[in-house]
Amino acid sequence: MNLILGVGGGIAAYKAAELARLLQDRGFAVNVVMTASAREFVQPLTFAALTGRKVMTDLFDQSSPEGTLSSSVEHIGVAQENEVLLVAPATAGLIAKFAHGLADDFLSTTYLAFTGQVFIAPAMNTNMWNHPATRANLQILRDRGHVILDPEAGRLACGTIGPGRLAEPRYITDQVALLARPAQDFVGDTVLITAGPTREAIDPVRYISNRSSGKMGYALAEAAQRRGARVVLVSGPVQLTAPAGVALVKVTTAQEMHSAVLQHLAESTIIIKSAAVADYRVASAAAQKLKKTGEPVTLTLEPNADILADVGRRKEHRFVVGFAAETENLLEYGRQKLASKRADMIVANLVNSSVTGFDTDLNDVTLITGTGDIALGQASKRELAGRILDYILRQRAGKS
Ligand SMILES: Cc1cc2nc3c(=O)[nH]c(=O)nc-3n(C[C@H](O)[C@H](O)[C@H](O)COP(=O)(O)O)c2cc1C
Repeated sequence: MNLILGVGGGIAAYKAAELARLLQDRGFAVNVVMTASAREFVQPLTFAALTGRKVMTDLFDQSSPEGTLSSSVEHIGVAQENEVLLVAPATAGLIAKFAHGLADDFLSTTYLAFTGQVFIAPAMNTNMWNHPATRANLQILRDRGHVILDPEAGRLACGTIGPGRLAEPRYITDQVALLARPAQDFVGDTVLITAGPTREAIDPVRYISNRSSGKMGYALAEAAQRRGARVVLVSGPVQLTAPAGVALVKVTTAQEMHSAVLQHLAESTIIIKSAAVADYRVASAAAQKLKKTGEPVTLTLEPNADILADVGRRKEHRFVVGFAAETENLLEYGRQKLASKRADMIVANLVNSSVTGFDTDLNDVTLITGTGDIALGQASKRELAGRILDYILRQRAGKS
């Protein structure tokens, strides 16, 4: 889910850096907007480095990185492209501006243009917190349906003891993750997702497989389901629990995955093939455990069916997404795959890094489409899942 993290000018602004990190771990794509006062406390560079995105501070700065905003009026673009606005720390000044509709900087203008869910985490001196003006302003925001994440009591930076300290970043993250309602933009879709590796038996106890963990596919399944899709998850053997509400079809071999996918193709509107399917299987797996002879052994491998190509041939109106995991020439191979498999999008990722790719929580992907490449960059698989789904909808809308 796309989230705006609005940072106000208080001592607690530094805690927003931790918050940005925690929110991303929970799958939010975080776009930071800072007030001028917030920049007195923390450098925008801190947030840019943590999120990998441009930090918005100036209402009249029109430059925006390609692919992040659709509008040339940046605060309107930001307001439209995010589902959640979290302001932390929210200063007494910001709370007053929001309550009365003052729009004199990027954050307060974005607030007025924003139609999604709003979370406010105030932090201020106890007297400011207790002031009738702040109490009245907060009541206005509560009445507007915004969630106020009250500050904690304790010793404040100004030396006073009382309420006013920003709620713990972990608590704020938990509350936002719990209460944020994703857009139901996949209602009516059945998304067929494949995930994980396949196993090709050598004998009853040994097999050939690969390092795929299934994390990317499971993240996609969870995100699509939360956004209202019916999800069929065809999964190879993984150490993950399927998200509640998802129809799980467990398979082991590439052949089983192939038939499960074809079986569920008719009911699907979107197919996402994120599984790492074995290209080959052992021609004749031994019925009994092979004994050690001390001699070299030769295994004859025969090719498995190409599931993506088969889906591409039968896709009709369906939107088909393939994954390309490569160790070199990523974009070139990805583009070839897009054309040869008749896919609508290829999610290309390099898998020879220890930080991203197979069996990690991070990925670094580029989306290859018929209308150009979109580099999503490095992010958590949960965050990338949301962004891949965003682009599937955009590409499909462009196609129709
Ligand atoms: C050192 C220092 C700490 C401040 N801490 C807070 C604070 O925690 N909460 C608050 O509401 N205002 C605080 N202020 C006052 C705000 O910075 C000031 O009201 C400013 O206009 C807020 O701007 P903004 O709401 O656009 O970020 C502090 C000011 C200074 C100089």
